[in-house]
Amino acid sequence: MQLYLSKDRAISADMVRRIEDLGVQHLVLTVDTPVMPKRERGLRNRVSLPIQANAVPRLALQCITRPAWLYEYFVHGGMPLMKNWAPYAPEGASAAQVAAFYRSQSPCLQEWKDVEWLRERWPGKLVLKGIVHPAEAQRAQRIGVDGVILSNHGGKVLDAMPSPISVLPDVRRAVGPDFVVMVDSGIRRGSDVVVARALGADFVFVGRPALYAAVAGGASGARRMISILKQEIDITLALLGCSSLEDVTQDVLLPQSAKTPGRAAA
Ligand SMILES: Cc1cc2nc3c(=O)[nH]c(=O)nc-3n(C[C@H](O)[C@H](O)[C@H](O)COP(=O)(O)O)c2cc1C
Repeated sequence: MQLYLSKDRAISADMVRRIEDLGVQHLVLTVDTPVMPKRERGLRNRVSLPIQANAVPRLALQCITRPAWLYEYFVHGGMPLMKNWAPYAPEGASAAQVAAFYRSQSPCLQEWKDVEWLRERWPGKLVLKGIVHPAEAQRAQRIGVDGVILSNHGGKVLDAMPSPISVLPDVRRAVGPDFVVMVDSGIRRGSDVVVARALGADFVFVGRPALYAAVAGGASGARRMISILKQEIDITLALLGCSSLEDVTQDVLLPQSAKTPGRAAA
């Protein structure tokens, strides 16, 4: 289960209790979005909630020219209800009102003491998502967090953030071999997975490839995405002479000096 904290910590506490009651064992706290980022592509395309009046004509045109999508949308009841949040919104709130309530609570500022608060409250495995700095990974480790997902939120929060793959070796060195380090953002091919593994990742996640596949082909589209990724991983492993991901070590990568001969000579 992935959680964003709420401004009202009583809501977060209740959510954590519900998550525990459901038998969930791993809780991922996303920490990289304390405020709403400035998403210029969204601004340019007028993608925002609530929908702005000047975006309506274009949206209406897009809907009308996609009758199959429109049919599905209405057959499934229109705007989806954020069921996790419905209990906290005013009684009888519509899907749009629940979404508005959610936006009044999240994103919210958070500090390390909030992570400590959650660590005390949550008995299962706790993962922090959105870490890119080795010192912060170490701090998470000291607090008793069980693992981190190195992520720049798919490039959706701050342009200047480094790619997680570029900080992975330093984070791995900082936390040692046994702490669980996972990576997402920009994983597109099986070879990306193998490179992440070589640099010390225990797991990788994919975001948009899964979304695009599900949008294009539903559940079977998502399955196809996974099978393409698996096939690419197998091909990459074979090309590297490795029989499994467990065989992949940093040795499959060229040392930095081999990639920049000028510098090595200097
Ligand atoms: C449409 C969309 C919605 C997302 N919503 C969340 C979210 O609610 N919580 C979260 O932790 N990350 C969210 N993310 C970020 C993803 O979890 C993930 O970090 C990112 O998509 C990985 O990069 P990739 O898409 O390049 O694989 C979202 C990403 C997208 C594209």
